[in-house]
Amino acid sequence: MQSFEDYFKNSIPKVETFYTDYNRAIEHILSASGKLFRPKLLLSIVKAYEPLLLESSYPVAMAVELFHTYSLIHDDLPAMDNAPLRRGIATLHTVFDEATAVLIGDAFNTYSFELIANSPFREDVKIKLIKLLAQNGGIGGMVLGQAIDLAFENTPLTLEQAESLHINKTAKLIAASLVMGAVIAGLGKEIEDKLYQFGLDLGLLFQVQDDIIDVTLSEAEAGKPIGNDGDKNSFINLLGLEKSVEYADTLAKKIEGEFEKFDPKLQNALKGLLEKYLYRHRQES
Ligand code: IPE
Ligand code: IPE
Ligand code: MG
Ligand code: MG
Ligand code: MG
Repeated sequence: MQSFEDYFKNSIPKVETFYTDYNRAIEHILSASGKLFRPKLLLSIVKAYEPLLLESSYPVAMAVELFHTYSLIHDDLPAMDNAPLRRGIATLHTVFDEATAVLIGDAFNTYSFELIANSPFREDVKIKLIKLLAQNGGIGGMVLGQAIDLAFENTPLTLEQAESLHINKTAKLIAASLVMGAVIAGLGKEIEDKLYQFGLDLGLLFQVQDDIIDVTLSEAEAGKPIGNDGDKNSFINLLGLEKSVEYADTLAKKIEGEFEKFDPKLQNALKGLLEKYLYRHRQES
């Protein structure tokens, strides 16, 4: 069986058109990989419960990753965070232009739903997957979080409001990735709900860690500009570095507590990823 990483590389969309820069732009932004955290969460659930469905889940995992990549392409635009570097390579709008970056982002957004629609699962399963990605990534999810993030630059939010920002911006898509794995594996509503709550905590932690990275890593280590959150309602700006690390510790402990209540199969599914990411804010600071 090929790895998900190989599947992803071999499945980069190439569109039939005389406009060759269109394909070059797609290739450029996908030439550098991220951590693949969201697809790995999805696949780890499927692998633990329904290993025979693992390869069939690759297009859905790719959809989640491309959706996330679309959010990053737009996040880096001058109108948003204005970043020249992403995953260690030049951002799309700097290599091509802003219109190209807007449009390739749009293309990945819609293509992710096309990938799910074409995946080899029952229609009702696919509708649930599409709904999860749309609800958590779209109007009441990542897009809302990004809108708040930008609208309140230089306007301090309360901690509760900031948590809402970061839950929408980052945590919902991470929670959805876990639940999408559960939907493919047919684990039922009780586990789906549990995984969603767990995923929101994990996603919030992931964003606190990302905010910590902005002040503790070098640009080379992060693969993106650092010190870029000066105007933001980042945890660093609201709490300071030390308290942000404590906040991350508390959240990591809460996640461990929830994790310990999972059945052994679910624990096994997620153990590897949690070991790698739960205390990322300590490893890298
Ligand atoms: C970066 O996401 C943006 C956030 C939501 C924190 P990742 O840290 O998952 O970025 P990649 O995909 O590994 O590049
Ligand atoms: C972006 O958060 C989250 C998205 C929804 C794309 P950031 O703006 O903190 O992500 P980075 O630090 O640029 O990766
Ligand atoms: Mg941003
Ligand atoms: Mg950014
Ligand atoms: Mg960041």
